Amino acid sequence: MKRQSKSQRTAAEFIPPGASLDEVRRAAAGCKACDLWKLGTQTVFGEGARHAKVMFIGEQPGDKEDLAGKPFVGPAGAVLDKALAAAGISREDIYVTNAVKHFKWEPRGKRRIHKKPNALEVAACRPWLDREIELTQPEVVVVMGATAAQALLGRQFKVTQQRGRLLDSNLAPHVIATVHPSSILRAPDDETRHAEMASFIDDLRVVARAMKQRTRRAA
Ligand code: URA
Ligand code: SF4
Repeated sequence: MKRQSKSQRTAAEFIPPGASLDEVRRAAAGCKACDLWKLGTQTVFGEGARHAKVMFIGEQPGDKEDLAGKPFVGPAGAVLDKALAAAGISREDIYVTNAVKHFKWEPRGKRRIHKKPNALEVAACRPWLDREIELTQPEVVVVMGATAAQALLGRQFKVTQQRGRLLDSNLAPHVIATVHPSSILRAPDDETRHAEMASFIDDLRVVARAMKQRTRRAA
């Protein structure tokens, strides 16, 4: 039998069949499907409402998330929280997760600097995300930034050109792409940052409307 190379492994082999969301979360803690488990402190699985109306998908945990074991608790999470409040979306209605569940970083002095996950790592981690979507069944999926967008919407997808609109995708009844909140933190000056925050909030207002639409139809 041909031995499977490490790069071809995926998280699927770690997922117990028929597992509940809590069981899947526990299984993810022991995932070794790619080499990132050696770099991160722990698996950072998604969190939020069990049957969330909306799932927000980022790239991978950052330094703070890696230490806390929770997604979006650092600076990018603060931007997300602020924009959610401005768009009138309650934290209770959402589930937040990432395309990749271990922190990939490289040292710079005493700091751990974020390093973008590669396509093999994103592919290896994908079964966790698929299971999260399947088990929480969100009405709206919000894909934030290029890594998540390319993983879920195709390699050709351009967030800058297609952000803030309802997209045709079988991931959920409504799918929307927007920028990653940490891109707002990287804005070169205050004026740009304010403008980018306003556009991010506009995109989240589209999400808020999609949530209401669906609720009305279901009522
Ligand atoms: N950036 C992400 O993509 N996800 C997090 O959880 C934190 C920062
Ligand atoms: Fe598993 Fe994902 Fe962590 Fe890789 S990044 S070890 S696939 S949980």
